[in-house]
Amino acid sequence: MKKRILTGDRPTGNLHLGHLVGSLQNRVALQEEYDTFILIADVQALTTHFEQPEKITENVYAVALDNLSVGLNPEKASLFVQSMVPTIAELTVFYSMLVSVNTLRHNPTIKTEAANYGYEDMTYGFLGYPVSQTADITFCNANLVPVGEDQLPHMELTKKIVRRFNDLYKTNVLTEPEAMLSACPRLVGLDGNAKMGKSLNNAIFLCDTEEMVKAKILSAKTDPQRINVKDKGHPDVCSAFSYHKIFNPDECENICESCKQAQVGCVDCKNNLFKKVNALLKPIRQKREYYEAHPNLVREILVAGTEKANTIGQETVAKVKEAMKINHFGG
Ligand code: TRP
Repeated sequence: MKKRILTGDRPTGNLHLGHLVGSLQNRVALQEEYDTFILIADVQALTTHFEQPEKITENVYAVALDNLSVGLNPEKASLFVQSMVPTIAELTVFYSMLVSVNTLRHNPTIKTEAANYGYEDMTYGFLGYPVSQTADITFCNANLVPVGEDQLPHMELTKKIVRRFNDLYKTNVLTEPEAMLSACPRLVGLDGNAKMGKSLNNAIFLCDTEEMVKAKILSAKTDPQRINVKDKGHPDVCSAFSYHKIFNPDECENICESCKQAQVGCVDCKNNLFKKVNALLKPIRQKREYYEAHPNLVREILVAGTEKANTIGQETVAKVKEAMKINHFGG
């Protein structure tokens, strides 16, 4: 039997180049070899956006389109919506008994995110989202979970819950998953920020038009000390150069030297970069256009993926309840 992969995206906005190199390309490659599940984590997104649920709803299809446009193949991968799989919520409740509040409070990702959102008194749902994420992963007994580094504390928790459950109820119904980190370093923002972010106003989105991508690349932050073309550049502090490293690896060394020697100007360098990035995005745009022209197809893909997730989730919950001896009506 094929091993199973599960990973997910919060539908809080369109996905960008950082997602592409950090996780989307990876999952598209892995779908050939693994039974793949891609979760659209709308319930998890509510932990930070519960006051604007409509923002989440409008992004469910956006994230589905992003995944399909980069080459996720619905024949090989199941794309599904978290809130439509109630067994995930059920498992969350059972797992919540096996985790202490202090463990969650000490989770470094929770701490950082709570500080970023300015939560002084965070909700129970936000504090507990790593428990819900454990249910996301274990409802289908995923073996591998491709994630970014910030998700590693959640993966540790998932393993802990799985071991605790299996030990306590003397069973092996739950599979202990492994995290899989992307080989690609995190993409910096166009503004030089350490992270390209959905809502940081520094991202190139997969759905951006050619013109938008060009304008964004031309506006990318470069070496602030290089004011005139004749000034020697410092590629290490230039966000455009950091993109060359990823999107233009063959010319990267030359570009580095030419910049240091002031043999190439920023505009030429960026136009070159634009060509490379645009070549990468062009087929993605074309696929997106196709799916945009067939909205019913996207809906059908989500419905079919969600149906498959529900079947598997019901099997898992049945086994979980059996292990916990929760069967009060017999049968
Ligand atoms: N927390 C993840 C993120 O913010 C999204 C996510 C939700 C996820 N459920 C998951 C990732 C399960 C991996 C597995 O990126």
